[in-house]
Amino acid sequence: MDASVLLALRDPAGVPFYPVVFQVLYILTWALHAAFVLLALGSMGLSIVGTFKQKNDSTWKILTPHLIQTGKISISILIVLGVAPLLFTQVIYDPNWYVANTLSGMCVFIFIYTLLVGYSMYYWYYYANKKTEGGGKLIGIISFLILVFAGLLMHNFAVTSIMPNDWMNMYAPNGVVDNSGWTFNMNIVRLVFMVSLAIPVVGIFLQNYSRFLSTREDFSEEFVSYTASLGTKLGVVGLLISALAFVAWMMQIGYLMNPLSLAIIVGVVILLVMVFLNKNSYITTGILVVVALLISGMRELIRFDIMSNLGYSIYDYPVNLEIPTITMFLLTFLVLGGVGVAYLLTMAWKVGKTQGIFDGSKDKAVTRLGNYTLTIMVVWMVIYFAWGMTILFSNTL
Ligand code: HEM
Repeated sequence: MDASVLLALRDPAGVPFYPVVFQVLYILTWALHAAFVLLALGSMGLSIVGTFKQKNDSTWKILTPHLIQTGKISISILIVLGVAPLLFTQVIYDPNWYVANTLSGMCVFIFIYTLLVGYSMYYWYYYANKKTEGGGKLIGIISFLILVFAGLLMHNFAVTSIMPNDWMNMYAPNGVVDNSGWTFNMNIVRLVFMVSLAIPVVGIFLQNYSRFLSTREDFSEEFVSYTASLGTKLGVVGLLISALAFVAWMMQIGYLMNPLSLAIIVGVVILLVMVFLNKNSYITTGILVVVALLISGMRELIRFDIMSNLGYSIYDYPVNLEIPTITMFLLTFLVLGGVGVAYLLTMAWKVGKTQGIFDGSKDKAVTRLGNYTLTIMVVWMVIYFAWGMTILFSNTL
């Protein structure tokens, strides 16, 4: 692939801020997306196992609906969080993203319906299980497979987008244009690694779950220790599988000795020890976040190297500074997002820690954070619309 073709595919308007900032934001937000993808797949998969045990086992009777609920919420969060890396990708790697979307147009189309059907069926599974213990097994399995298929489609877009040298051949195999939109590429080792991470993630989640509930009197000691040891088993076995898959992937693409790859391996070994000892799972989660960021960085490094070797560097992207836009974005992200998420998390934490019913209006911190969130939201909406209208009218009148 000639660099001039790639450069011609860039947005002539340039980027509104320094490309490195978008690159960092891409790495950060993809890690967040992946965290919830893995928690969704892991908790959903384990909940299906639970549906087979739920009727006769008092532990799984409590655990299964909680896992289903965790998966249900995680899917909605992963969808929201998927949008962010999508935006950053199309800002700095627009040639890649749009070519992949064009070549795989049918897959993009199918992706939307896959998600719609898969998530709707998840709700069916949730209600069926709520109605009868152990209910909704088949629907749950189908929904799980559909959502894994959504991940496979995402993987196709990611892989196709980093194969610029083969694009021409995919577009016109043997010189005959193929505009069917059915282009499909996969790297099975990379995919197995990504999806296998769902096992350690749900393991560490279970360790946190057990630790969180250990202060509650309405959950028995047996339940708390069972979930902790199940978490440890899943975490250890899952990390070993993921580590093997990671090494295989790195060997396949010749990155095994890369410092970032070595840092990930060290991170996984540290995680393995921490999960095995299970001294404080909240700290283990902190290390998991660091490893997730390193993995996200690895994905970016691979793409960056492929593109740089072809003469396309995101750092050479023409910058057309637009300070107001970036300020609005960062303020929205940090202030509105930060306070809003802090409010929801504080409330969720206190609800979970309270015996009986939690009344948020009687809690100082929750009330204060709720009021801040509402005020910031109203101010944000006023600024957003006033600014938009001003620009619209100053451009048209
Ligand atoms: C159940 C649904 C989903 C699953 C299981 C899933 C899973 C995945 C996986 C496994 C990858 C990594 C692929 C790879 O690097 O090989 C990925 C990447 C990604 N996903 Fe998702 N995803 C889902 C939904 C979404 C949605 C709804 C969005 C956007 C709204 C999204 C946006 C992205 C983006 C932008 C990437 C990175 C693509 C790239 O770097 O080229 N995902 N997803």
